[in-house]
Parts: sequence; C-alpha cells; structure tokens
Amino acid sequence: MTVLGKLKEQNKEFTTWRRHLHQNPETAFEEVNTSDYVANLLESWGIEVHRGMAKTAVVGVIRGKKGSSTRGIGLRADMDALNIFEETNLPHSSKIPGKMHACGHDGHTSMLLAASKHLAETRDFDGIVYAIFQPAEEGGGGGDVMVQEGFFDKFPCEAVYGMHNWPWMPAGTMAICEGAVSASTDSFDVKIVGKGGHAAFPHTTIDVIVCASQIISALQHLVSRVTAPSESVVVSVCKFHAGTSAHNVLPETAEIGGTVRTLKPELRVLMEEKFRHVVKTVADAYGAQVEIKWHKGYPSCINTPAETDFARDVAKEVVGEEKVFPFTPMMGGEDFAYFLEACKGAYIILGQGKTDSDPGLHSPHYDFNDEVLPVGAAYWVRLAETWLAQKS
Ligand code: NI
Repeated sequence: MTVLGKLKEQNKEFTTWRRHLHQNPETAFEEVNTSDYVANLLESWGIEVHRGMAKTAVVGVIRGKKGSSTRGIGLRADMDALNIFEETNLPHSSKIPGKMHACGHDGHTSMLLAASKHLAETRDFDGIVYAIFQPAEEGGGGGDVMVQEGFFDKFPCEAVYGMHNWPWMPAGTMAICEGAVSASTDSFDVKIVGKGGHAAFPHTTIDVIVCASQIISALQHLVSRVTAPSESVVVSVCKFHAGTSAHNVLPETAEIGGTVRTLKPELRVLMEEKFRHVVKTVADAYGAQVEIKWHKGYPSCINTPAETDFARDVAKEVVGEEKVFPFTPMMGGEDFAYFLEACKGAYIILGQGKTDSDPGLHSPHYDFNDEVLPVGAAYWVRLAETWLAQKS
C-alpha cells in the first residue's frame, strides 16, 4: 500500500487534531496551548522535541533507522491563527471570540503532525527529519525570529520545505514554480504637512488634500511607468485621512498609508527609492513637507530551482502527474521566505477546494478541508524519505 493509502486510513485521527486546533486558535507568539498540544503528540510517538525558539516554536527531531547519517531535511508548518470573528457556524467553530484559523494553519500543523507520526513509526530513512512548527506567520515574522535565533546552526538542513493550502484549486491537486512564489510586503505611512486655513481663501493655505491626491495619483505611475510591464509590482494606497467635520476648513496635515509589493529583491530596492522620490518631489511642488515612514515587511519567498524540481517530482508521485500544475506567483506575503533566504528549498501549494465558490483564505466563512490532510502528510513523508535516499 502507498504511504497515501496508509495515511488515508488514519484520517479520522488527523481530523480530530485539526478540529481541536480549529476550536482553539491562538495568534502570533501566543500559540502556547497549540505548542503544548503539538509537543505532547510528538513526544507520545517517541520524537525528540525542542522548544523555546521564537517563544512558542516546536521542532521535532526524527532520526532514521537505516544508518547513522546526520544529513537533515526541514519540513515546516505554521501554527498561528488570525484576528477574525468566525462565521462558519460549524460544530468545530472557534471557541475564542475574535480569533480564527481562517488561513488553514490548523490544517498545516495537522498535516505535519500526521507526517511526523508516520515517520516516527517507520523511520525508513538514513538521516534526520526536522519537523518545524513555527509561530507568527500572519505578521510578526516567526520564521524570521527562528532563523535569527540560529535555527539552521542548531538543526542543519540540506534543504527546507514549506506548504500552503489553496481553496482556489481542487482538493488533492498541487502547484509549484521555481523562483518567486510570494511578494515582498513593505508598507508605508506618509504624513503631509502644509498650512491650514479658511476654505474660502485657499490661496493663503498649502492645501494638503490636493497635494496628497496628487501624490496618490503619481504613485500609481510607479507601476505603469517605472517598472517594466512584464514585472509584477503592486502599489496600493489603503488609507487617506485628513480634515474634520467642518466644511470650511482646509486641514494642516493629511496622512496616507498602504503597501508596496514586488517579486524581485532588486525591484524592492528600486521601488522604495522611487516611492520616496515621487512623494518628496510632488510635495515640494506644492510647498508641503512630508514625513515618510517605510516599514520593511517579509521578503519575497524564492524557490531554488533544483529543490523545486525535486518537490514537483515527489508531488507527482503522491497525487499523480496530471494533478500537479505550475503555480502563478502571488502578491501576498509568506514568512517562509526567511527560511529560503538562509537555505535551499521550495514552497508548494496544496489544492483543497470542494466547489468553485469556496470561501477564500482569511474569510470568516473559510474552513480547512480535512479530506486533504492525508495528501499533504503523504507529500511530507515521501519528500523526506526520497530526499534522504539521494546521494549527498
Ligand atoms: Ni497562511
């Protein structure tokens, strides 16, 4: 029987874990009960457990029985939930108001638990599998913190792999591409300072509303006129605050904020430079002053070529060649990027959609599809076994 076949027989148990985690969501660096739950299960299967990195991370160390090699491979899942009020009305709905597993990290955690259990029972490999359960993917950069705290010094990996469920692809399909998978997620806040005054005497003021409007318009040209049409770049202004309830007062200040996203590190640098230039130059034309706060977000998550090919082959073996597709890079963020900045590896997408109109990620109506738990787990198992069976 295939690994997938064996795991399918145990899906009742995997579903119990997934639903328990779904009912008990915890957010960035507060995954205390989740961390205990994961660590207790791993220990119950005789897996060596390391805790304490990035506050709540759990790393399971599974050693093969086929030899004494210290070659290692990392499999990573994220454990955190989101600040969302769940509206699914499912029996296993969140028990914590305002918190919800709306991105399926409950499923990711359960799939890696299922794989860990199988790998600990079989240990049919020569080397070490590191099962990485990280906190704070949805902001907070738990992956970054783990890498900064020396994850790869403590747990040397030849390659590290990540996976995310995808409601927009049919259940049991997978998708991957080499190079960028997700975007860098920098954000900005700009304060425009002019000269307030009477709305009937605009010539005596420096009108920050007109100035900010021109800045917003000019920023849109960064995508159409600064970067090549073939490149993927996003500039979105998501807030604009100015004025009071008065209809006859021009305010002294205006504030705008938003996000700038790219797939390439060099474009990320260029966009920040051009952004600052446009904001300052337009403000200058109006005689206004600006304060720019630039917040560095996650880098682009970049799959390395050989490890991508490897993952694709394993995916084809597990779900069938006809169910593995090329992935179109997304402009969302993913903090697995920090693992891939430090080590070779690849991030793969696992389809979990039941219908064409399934709620998307981060929707209050979203729920992880338990049918795909054995699929993701079988991918992890075969990835680790196949990797460690290769010659180093
Ligand atoms: Ni997610």
